[in-house]
Amino acid sequence: TAVGASGLAATAGCIGGGGGGGETITIGSDIPYAPFEYRNEAGDLIGFDVEIAEAVFGEQLDMDYEFQETSFDGIIASLNNANFRVIMSAMTINESRAERVDFSDPYFTAYQTVLLLEGSDIGSREDLQGTAVGVQRGTTGEAAAEDLQEEFDGDLQIESYDQINGAFDALLNNQVDAVINDNTVSASFAAENEEVVFLEGDGVAADRDNAPPYLTLTIEEYGIAFRQDDDDFREEVNGALATIRENGTYEEIYNEYFDG
Ligand code: ARG
Repeated sequence: TAVGASGLAATAGCIGGGGGGGETITIGSDIPYAPFEYRNEAGDLIGFDVEIAEAVFGEQLDMDYEFQETSFDGIIASLNNANFRVIMSAMTINESRAERVDFSDPYFTAYQTVLLLEGSDIGSREDLQGTAVGVQRGTTGEAAAEDLQEEFDGDLQIESYDQINGAFDALLNNQVDAVINDNTVSASFAAENEEVVFLEGDGVAADRDNAPPYLTLTIEEYGIAFRQDDDDFREEVNGALATIRENGTYEEIYNEYFDG
């Protein structure tokens, strides 16, 4: 698609695309978070979010746009400081965030899941008590870990890392016993590391169609985040999201990243 072809990847961590409608918008995102926003070997920014952005902002709304890398923790403050126009960062829609930003309609369903090293003693949700879990700071994975910690009367150690790769590395290095994170992102990491497995069991999504076949701690939906004074633009984006679902573009992108 057009996104992978972008020649702008080398410029200051930004890539852009779009149709030359005149206006350029900047999209804040924490990278890497494969398969949503990450770089291929050539250094081009790719991923599900990146291609949805091309379809929505580039193709449907005919805008020029560029991604701006930013840390996930503080990404909402940064949006509200007008450092970028929207957040597109596999961001889960939730109530506390909705007090500070407005979200688009949901565009992806995700679940918090638990990743372990093969041979781990942890065989159930209860076994997480007394262990150390790694999470990305400021994420719903961190919030899910905090909920578990409360459930275990404090008997859970939470290690928060600025980026998800920090948590993944800590797991590989035995610095944490588990990583709590979005299912498809953890699945993409597990696909590249044979020694990494999901904690199995019936979770909150067990009865759902297409739910992952392992323990789910939460059910979440991703949205694009806007400043609270940006209603007209948000409506345009919702229209574009609906269009790409109707015209098959969404499905095409979905199948590219999540083997349909
Ligand atoms: N979905 C989770 C959340 O909203 C994790 C998102 C992390 N995204 C990223 N690009 N690092 O908290």
